Amino acid sequence: MALLKPSKFISSVGSLTPSLATLPIRSSSWWTEVQMGPPDPILGVTEAFKRDTNSKKMNLGVGAYRDDNGKPYVLSCVRKAEALIASKMLDKEYLPIGGLGDFNKACAELALGPDSEVLKSKRSITVQTISGTGSLRIGANFLSRFHTVARDVYLPKPSWGNHTPIFRDAGMQLKAYRYYDPATCGFDFTGALDDVSKIPEHSVIMLHACAHNPTGVDPRPEQWKELSAVIKKRKLLVFFDMAYQGFASGDIDRDAWAVRYFLEQGHNVLLSQSFAKNMGLYGERVGGFTVVCADAEEAKRVESQLKILIRPIYSNPPMNGARIASTILSTPELRSTWLEEVKGMADRIIKMREMLVTNLKKEGSTHNWQHVIDQIGMFCFTGLKPEQVERLTKEFSVYMTKDGRISVAGVTSGNVGYLAHAIHQVTK
Ligand SMILES: Cc1ncc(COP(=O)(O)O)c(C=O)c1O
Repeated sequence: MALLKPSKFISSVGSLTPSLATLPIRSSSWWTEVQMGPPDPILGVTEAFKRDTNSKKMNLGVGAYRDDNGKPYVLSCVRKAEALIASKMLDKEYLPIGGLGDFNKACAELALGPDSEVLKSKRSITVQTISGTGSLRIGANFLSRFHTVARDVYLPKPSWGNHTPIFRDAGMQLKAYRYYDPATCGFDFTGALDDVSKIPEHSVIMLHACAHNPTGVDPRPEQWKELSAVIKKRKLLVFFDMAYQGFASGDIDRDAWAVRYFLEQGHNVLLSQSFAKNMGLYGERVGGFTVVCADAEEAKRVESQLKILIRPIYSNPPMNGARIASTILSTPELRSTWLEEVKGMADRIIKMREMLVTNLKKEGSTHNWQHVIDQIGMFCFTGLKPEQVERLTKEFSVYMTKDGRISVAGVTSGNVGYLAHAIHQVTK
């Protein structure tokens, strides 16, 4: 082992002069065998974008909302909630391991609906997590420890890039089911049904509740219904990832439809929620993890084990973002402002999709770009090939991930014309 090279160690510090004593410590290393890792594909795009001096440059890699001036957007309901919280002069004591109780209640209600049978019968447990990523990781750890009957987690192909390392690092095995059809830039319903019907019983299946990342392609209600039936037949454990509630259609209830339908059908799901996108609380790291159980007694047992899992990882979650989210959700005036603002963000994205296609046609593009409009949520899988993406970056300073995914939230009425021109130049 390189880190035990004897020549690099000091046998007796006491016998060395002070100048010599510092030298061997500096030249010795514990980490000579650590290899340089690859840069994160999305953060790598941002780094390259920052170095670019072209004034027309566009960063369509990052998954964060921008207003029509291309600026980060803090929701006014968030500003108001912050002021309200500040005025209360609350203390900064630790939260419980499972987080802020009011937040957990409001978070579960937002996803499951106010009339949820699951909530009424108290057969679910929700813990506050470090945004969606933290929620997924707590879920993955929970599965790793307690879902010993099966280790496989089936992800849609493709899925959010972080799903694989989250589950892999927790000791689960990753598998995939067909989801996206490159030929139509739409949902491969037949492929998905076919693959899901062959998944071994008790495996875990990951479903994006709405606004699938990276494709922007969601099943329609009747397709969800068929998926639910097949998943039930195969006795699969459903893990919903809901990182974009409200962001897809602009309506939080409509976006939660699939989750609520699956519950009605008797699936006792796992659910991850994030408030990064729909409240713009990215860096505050606000999320929730819910386990729907058979009954209230089971929920209590699961809760105790979630706490045991969380305690040695981060002890208890941060309070600020959870206070903001729970204040917004439980203050009627702030809640209605929030609903309007979510709709405003979703509508702007929908408008940009339409404007992009109109501008592509104006440029003279004869390709069928209907999928840009049909896809939903923050992301659009353009269908651009890696070499076209490379040209867009090199010749037009338009940055995106190599798979041709663009964050429509980075498009504005000021730059949509330039983007359409650039895309037409590399696709004609
Ligand atoms: C599908 C999906 N799940 C989860 C997340 C988690 O995000 P965060 O940890 O910022 O809440 C994201 C963020 O991009 C996502 O796209």
